[in-house]
Amino acid sequence: MKLWRGGRVATLAGDAGWGLIDDGALLVDDHGLLRWVGPSAEAPPADEVVDLQGALVTPGLVDCHTHLVYGGNRANEFEQRLHGASYADIAKAGGGIKSTVAATRGASEADLLAGARTRARALMAEGVTTLEVKSGYGLDADTEARMLRVARQLGSLGLDVKTTYLAAHAMPPEFSDADTYVAAVCAWLPGLHAAGLVDAVDAFCEHIAFSPAQVSRVFDAARALGLPVKLHAEQLSDQGGAELAARYRALSCDHLEFLGPDGVRAMAQAGTVAVLLPGAFYALRETQLPPVTALREAGVPIAIATDHNPGSSPTLSPLLMLNMACVLFRLTPEEALRGLTVHGARALGLRDRGQLVPGQRADFCLWDGGHPRELAACFGHNPLKARVFKGRIQGGA
Ligand code: NIG
Ligand code: FE
Repeated sequence: MKLWRGGRVATLAGDAGWGLIDDGALLVDDHGLLRWVGPSAEAPPADEVVDLQGALVTPGLVDCHTHLVYGGNRANEFEQRLHGASYADIAKAGGGIKSTVAATRGASEADLLAGARTRARALMAEGVTTLEVKSGYGLDADTEARMLRVARQLGSLGLDVKTTYLAAHAMPPEFSDADTYVAAVCAWLPGLHAAGLVDAVDAFCEHIAFSPAQVSRVFDAARALGLPVKLHAEQLSDQGGAELAARYRALSCDHLEFLGPDGVRAMAQAGTVAVLLPGAFYALRETQLPPVTALREAGVPIAIATDHNPGSSPTLSPLLMLNMACVLFRLTPEEALRGLTVHGARALGLRDRGQLVPGQRADFCLWDGGHPRELAACFGHNPLKARVFKGRIQGGA
């Protein structure tokens, strides 16, 4: 048993509040689980004691929506958008996701891994201990598998990785009929699942991507294998994707700028998490805000994530997302931090992390700072001192 004592601990225990313990301590067992959390003065004895020297302690960050594995980059599209082209215009002209598909197909597994490792390390340097990575830039069986294998290998860096199959992301050039492609997407899934490469299944439900009817076929294939689903829903228009996803008891619906009242209700009833992605909202200069007040009033848990990808959200800063979630979406700093911890975990179906309470994994961050609200108030500054993953200190920035 190891005792970490003398820190300002934001436990995020319960459904609301920071759960602050001013001079707090955490007891971690040999399996990397929290055994006890409370005031240092009341701490039980331990074999080893670490002095936190007043550091601010929060749960490790959970980035529950990323497209971290890909080839190439799309800075050219940044320039095109500055000249007035929209994300949808660029996609329709064969750029966007399709251009990353070409670059990813042309990249070796080693190249994809090298790029993804660098990006994962950047996220870890800001406190990420659990990371979701989607496929969706292969759009053929081999490249989708290669992406998922690369994502799985990132786990050796010292963070937990969950993989999501997103072959229903865009139409590959070799298919002309979307229904035929969706049938292929469903046919590839059992093999990838049997290879242990898939934790969840996602799709892009949008007028530039797949219809609700097509998404439901992908979700049926997931359900047949007992896999949970998630959805890129109502990002550019209201397609009724959230209601569809809720019918499949989706773990999460993500983006949601155009989510309407029926979608909010359906998500609340299904217990589906709303994953808000301020990086994409900002980079695409969206003006339609996600319905945060309605989500809050309906009791839908709100997560936030980087949505790291080379097009719509090329950020590697979860801390910046905390700030943007508050400034752009009007989340409170506490809601934003819950969004990157306990609710992010829930968006991945994980109940064993995200709060510093006994029984949870000992994944936590040590920050230079006095109050957790500072993490959201600052931007362009990284106060991480160290990251503790499964009870082991991993160093920091
Ligand atoms: O979450 N909206 C669709 N998918 C990604 C963007 C992927 C890309 O543009 O490469 C997203 O924003
Ligand atoms: Fe995404």
